[in-house]
Amino acid sequence: MAIENKIVVSGIRSTGKLHLGNYFGAMQNYVKMQDDYPCYFFVADYHSLTTHPDPKDLRASVYRVLSENIAAGLDPEKVTLYAQSDIPEIPELYLMLNMLAYKGELEKVPTFKDKVRQNPNNVNAGLLTYPVLMAADILIHRASLVPVGKDQEQHLEMARNFAQRFNSRYGELFPEPQPFNFGDALVKVMSLDGSGGKMSKSENENATIYLADDDDSIRKKVMKAKTDSGPIEANSLMPEYIASLFSLMRLVSAPATVAAFEEHFNQCTIRYGDMKKQLAEDMIEFVRPIREKAKALELDAPLLQSILKRGAEQARAHAAFTISEARKLIGINYY
Ligand code: TRP
Repeated sequence: MAIENKIVVSGIRSTGKLHLGNYFGAMQNYVKMQDDYPCYFFVADYHSLTTHPDPKDLRASVYRVLSENIAAGLDPEKVTLYAQSDIPEIPELYLMLNMLAYKGELEKVPTFKDKVRQNPNNVNAGLLTYPVLMAADILIHRASLVPVGKDQEQHLEMARNFAQRFNSRYGELFPEPQPFNFGDALVKVMSLDGSGGKMSKSENENATIYLADDDDSIRKKVMKAKTDSGPIEANSLMPEYIASLFSLMRLVSAPATVAAFEEHFNQCTIRYGDMKKQLAEDMIEFVRPIREKAKALELDAPLLQSILKRGAEQARAHAAFTISEARKLIGINYY
């Protein structure tokens, strides 16, 4: 049951595989939100077109992210789960909002500038107006809460600006969407390279555990993690790379297991090889059911299609109201 009727929207990128950082960072919180709010979660497939993916690959990427997200706990019975491209009301609102978005402000967006730097030969208008499409994704449902990471906060601020501009020009229609911050619930999942950084696919593939990783690659990645010959003084301060291993262990191992290794550390009797073996096995046990569920879903096209279809129907019904109100307010009202 919803504790509040605030609407939640979030877009899931259709490129890139989910890793443990996504799982403990965002996913677990999406899963919690689905019990408390009306949630609209969608695969942002239109956004992915900015980089011109091979048409042969699109379906598989959409099926994969959808399967991984469901395997990680998103329940299509509780949330409205759909593909962005199934909702024509989104591009319609995008067009309307484009008239309220200024070239100058779009060019200043740091993510746009990064893309230009990385890919100077493909500075297309879709890339420039990425934040406008994202605003349309959110405003189409008149959402108030958007669970996103820090990197998306500037985009969200633009969505608030566009909402405000629309409201003040044409009349009150859109709430100003706020980032939904998980606060303390946001777990930092440390990379296995001992750098003190978080797991992330762009940083270091080999220090990141993906939900699609098989048992053997998990074992290899964990066993390669940096350690040393162990503390020589009782109760010493943990070096960062060791603290990272312990923090990963806390996510996947039994509390008694963690406590036992902490005790060994404090007594200077720890054997990091044993600790990593244990961590690897616990991580494998944790990832395996998610991986297997995702794999089975990915192969079940009829099931995924029925989930997408139902999600699209629900999302369109909700979006249609917003668009008809927006058209009226703008003055598109001829019959
Ligand atoms: N830009 C987001 C990302 O890169 C994905 C996204 C697209 C999104 N539309 C959205 C997130 C709407 C929240 C709301 O992760």
